[in-house]
Formats: sequence, C-alpha cells, structure tokens
Amino acid sequence: FASACAVLLAGLALLPALLQTLCPYFLQDCIYMLRVARFGVRLEKYKRRTPLYSILDCFLDSVRRHPLKPFIHFEGKTYSYSDVDRESNKVANALRAVVGLKEGDTVAMFLGNEPCFAWTWLGLAKLGCAAALLNFNIRSKSLLHCFSCCGARVLVAAEELRGAVEEILPALKEKGIRVYLLSDECSTDGIKSISQAIKQASDEPLSPSFRANLHLKSTALYIYTSGTTGLPKAALITQERMWAASFIQGVSGVTADDVFYINLPLYHSAGFLIGLTGCMERGNSVILRRKFSASQFWDDCRKYNVTVMQYIGETMRYLCNTPKKDNDKDHKVRIAIGNGVRADVWNEFLKRFGNIYVRELYAATEGNIGFINYTSKVGVVGRVNILHRNLFPYALIKFDIEKEEPVRNADGLCVQAAQGETGLLVGKITKKSPFVGYAGNEQQTEKKRLRDVFVKGDLYFNSGDLLKVDHENFVYFQDRVGDTFRWKGENVATTEVSDILIMVDCIEEANVYGVTVKGHEGRIGMAAITLTEGKEFDCVDTCKVLSNLLPVYARPYFIRIQNSLEMTGTFKLKKVKLVAEGFDPALIQDPLYFLDLAQKKYIPLTQDIYNSVLAGEIKL
Ligand SMILES: *[C@@H]1O[C@H](CO)[C@@H](O)[C@H](O)[C@H]1NC(C)=O
Ligand SMILES: *[C@@H]1O[C@H](CO)[C@@H](O)[C@H](O)[C@H]1NC(C)=O
Repeated sequence: FASACAVLLAGLALLPALLQTLCPYFLQDCIYMLRVARFGVRLEKYKRRTPLYSILDCFLDSVRRHPLKPFIHFEGKTYSYSDVDRESNKVANALRAVVGLKEGDTVAMFLGNEPCFAWTWLGLAKLGCAAALLNFNIRSKSLLHCFSCCGARVLVAAEELRGAVEEILPALKEKGIRVYLLSDECSTDGIKSISQAIKQASDEPLSPSFRANLHLKSTALYIYTSGTTGLPKAALITQERMWAASFIQGVSGVTADDVFYINLPLYHSAGFLIGLTGCMERGNSVILRRKFSASQFWDDCRKYNVTVMQYIGETMRYLCNTPKKDNDKDHKVRIAIGNGVRADVWNEFLKRFGNIYVRELYAATEGNIGFINYTSKVGVVGRVNILHRNLFPYALIKFDIEKEEPVRNADGLCVQAAQGETGLLVGKITKKSPFVGYAGNEQQTEKKRLRDVFVKGDLYFNSGDLLKVDHENFVYFQDRVGDTFRWKGENVATTEVSDILIMVDCIEEANVYGVTVKGHEGRIGMAAITLTEGKEFDCVDTCKVLSNLLPVYARPYFIRIQNSLEMTGTFKLKKVKLVAEGFDPALIQDPLYFLDLAQKKYIPLTQDIYNSVLAGEIKL
C-alpha cells in the first residue's frame, strides 16, 4: 500500500510538469478561468440583490474605505475619492434643482477627457439617469443624429464645445431640448450656463431613493459605435454590461494598488468602461490625460508610478517611433490592456520598454462575445477554453468576401469554418450573452442579428469581424468585413462617409473603403467617386465639405475618380478589388487625389507624394 501511495504521490508531483509539457497553457488557462469564474459569481450575486448594487455603489464603498486616496491625477492636480464624490453630489444636486432630472431620464454628455467627465457621470448616476457619451469629434448632422437617437431631452456640454453645440442649436430648439454649458456664463440664446449653479449647490450625498427602481437590466449608458453602416449607432449598455466590462481590469490581474493610465477617449467603452469605471470597481488611482502624447507618455508613467496602461495598436507604434532613450526601461508599468496591436510592433515594444504583460482583448461595445489574451503567446487576441465556450457560445463561420455575406449550404444554413481557416465570428444570443441592440434603431439592430445559422430559427450576433482559431486553440483577429474600417483607433462606417461625399456638388456617387498603408495600423479612408455630369473635381470644395462634416480620422485621404462604379449582382458596390488595388499611381489609371490637410485641398497624387507617404515623410 505504502509503495502504491508513493507512486501516486510521485505521480501527483510530476503532474504539473507533465501538464506543462502536454498542455503548456494549462496553468494559464486555469488561472484565467478561475478569475473569470470569480467575477461571474459576483455578477450572479448582484443579480439577486435589491436594490441594485451598481458601479456607483461600488465607487461609494471605495470612498468610504479610502476617502483621501487619490482617484484622479490630471494636469498637475489631484482629486481624492472624496473630492470626486463631493463634486458629483454638487452636480447631482444642481441638475436636480435646475433641470429637474429624475430617475430614468437620459442626459447626453458632450465633454472632453477631464475630471469633470467622471463627476458629471457620477452625478447623473446618483439621480438614476442614463448618460449618452457623445464623441467630441463629431459635428453637425452626425452630432444631431447621435443626440437624437438616444432619446435624451437634455444636453450637457463642455465650454470649449460651444461652437459645435451652436451649429445644431436650431434643430435642438425645435425639439425642445434643454442645453446646458459647463461655463460661468453664456450669452447664446437657448444655451444656459450651469457652472455657477453647480458651484453653489450642496455637496450633501443624494438619497439612494432617487435611484431605487434601477435594476441590472436598466440602461446605464449609450456608447456610440460605427458598427457597420450609416451614421453612428447608440449601443445600449445595461447596468449588467457595465459590470461585466468593468471587471476586465480584475480579470487581467489589476489590483487596488495599481496606478492606471487613461489616455483613450472617455466616450468609448475602452476608456470609460475598462478604464474609468473599471478603476471605480478596483478602487485604484487614475492618471487621466486629455489625449495621448507619445513624448509625454513615459515621463507621466515615471512621475506617477503608473503600473497599468491602456493602448490601441497606434499607441504602441507611436511609442516605438519616439527617439530611443537610456531610461526607456525605467518605469513600473507591468500590464497593458487594449486591442489592435500587431505582433511585430509588440515584439519591438517589449524589447525596448521591458517586460509588460499584454492583455490584448477582442470585444465590440455592443457585441455579446469577447476574448482576452491571457497567455504569453504573441499575436493572439485570446484563447478558446471550455468555460468561455459554455458561457458565451460562439462560432466562426465561412464567409464570402466578394458577396460580403456568410456562405450558406443547400439547406440554407451556415457552415463552420475549419480550424485554421478564417471565418466570421458570430456569438449565440442567449440570456447570459444577450444582444441588446441599438437605441431607436431596430433596422440596424436587426442587421446585426443572424438567423438560421446552424439550425432553422436560431439567433446569433454578427460581429462583422473575421477571426481565426489555430490548432492550439489560439484566437487571431484577421480583418473586418466590408463596410467599416478602423483608422487611428476609431471605427469608420463607409456609408456615413459616402453619404457626405455625395453632398459635394461635383460628386455624383461614392464608394468608400479603407486601404492599408505600410507602417500604419488599420486602414485609411479612400473613396472611388464619379463626377456629376459636366462638372470637374473641385479640390477645395470637397475638402471643405468633408472638414465641416467629418472628423479628421474619417475623411478619405485618397480619392479615385472613375467613370462608373462597379456593382455586384445584388447592387452592392464592389470594394474588394478597389481595396486590393490601393492607391499606387503607377498601377492605377484613374485620376488619383491626396488630401493635403495643410493646404486644405485635394492635390493630384503623384508618384513623389506616393513615395513620401510610404516612406513616412508625409504624416497621415
Ligand atoms: C513613486 O514611487 C516612489 C518610490 O516608490 C515614491 O518615492 C514616490 O513618492 C512615488 N510617486 C508618486 C507620485 O506616488
Ligand atoms: C499576449 O500576452 C503576452 C504576455 O504579455 C504577450 O507577450 C503577447 O505579445 C500578447 N499578445 C498580443 C497580441 O498582444
């Protein structure tokens, strides 16, 4: 018996080593699954709690635990947990008194990255209001659309965005929308300044009874995405989803002692949910920046002892492009959370800036499926594991790139992509992984639903993304299907751009797509257009219309003039060939133009300019 025992013990002792050899990722899989399970259990607990325990309540618990701990460092100032709490009480008390806000109202926030973003949102949450986070780059028609589709009756805007608000003011007035500017005074008729009222308001805590009827399925936020087509859409974020996204820091191993660096815009889910409310969940400190600065990045990290950074693919590239310094490895950053980094850039980044755990994740704001890279494998966005598979059932299905639709077999059903083959990611819509859809846009919501995938009548979320799972179960992001492209970390919907292009007098039709440029992440905007009969291409006017109506990342940098645009059999514009042809004047016969931001006009794309773009001499 004793010897049997010894054999067993020896076997057990060998087991880890054996597992390490047979399944090298076993331990990492386990740690990750345990973490996910822990947060899953917490969410289940919150489901049974009444009244609702929200991120706000979690923040208030942090305030009680460590009132004096710094919550936000911003431009040389530090705001403690209790400072931010009191500011948000003032906002809430003022908005309640002046605006009459109450539980269930929606308020649109039009603010840049500054501490007041945090307390304005907290103030709204204290009143039980949902917040719509407007992208501060958008203007005119797009802005109005975003504002309108969330059903808000109130707009709160930063002083520096007054011009943008004034542009759409007539339309807002017509709808009876109340507009408040965070300034001491405002002489514009129809805009009220509210900063004085906030300064004078009481900082007494708000009674939880103001938000007593909220539950996990209540709408907490609207976050805008350019998912696939047309103008931006408001993805509805419930309290439950907000919890799930705020857990990503914890799942990635971030603790309350970490110092978190936010330089991504707070109107996106990465900056707001993974970053800001994630920090409220952890109770850690945030270094907030108005915008990313490659030259300031490491100095900030050193000054504030930053331990966790967020990134998009461009972040890594810009950091690698800065001049090398002796103190490149002198910092405390240990985790990076984000998405879109390419394997080569990542390797370079690690070599230069030292060992940092990258938590590359794949997720869409509105999607019902996500992956996170929790192993040490370069280039992957995540890993297939049993827990994940069961919690969030998903599949990769064969996709026809030409037709831009899933391949269907004789029975009209989709076909699973083979292991190693690129396929369209679809996530089964279940109670645990719901797809709430877009506010006030049933048509767009329906477009993201895919039916009859594996059996008649089943229902999946169409991510619009092409992924691949390799033979070791690692997941790789491959590309995005047709009608959006990603540039400078922003999704651009091609139809939104083409809708604006055809507003230009000289342009008859437009087909917009993204092309890759050597040395850059994502794809830059390009448009094939046809001209209105009898008109020449107007280089100045086209540039003017686009700059008035589109943020700079969405503008087509290259224009290709064609006699007619090619259609598919189903009257969709053909893009695949155009994308492949790119913008090389040596290969393309059609006239090509390049957007010269300095000259504020399109200029003919010569071979010289083309070469300078590829050499990185012309900044895009
Ligand atoms: C950063 O850490 C160092 C050493 O641990 C400490 O002396 C310094 O005060 C810290 N700085 C901040 C801003 O917390
Ligand atoms: C995944 O994480 C590991 C460990 O931090 C890292 O080495 C690897 O590059 C990451 N993969 C990606 C695509 O970021």
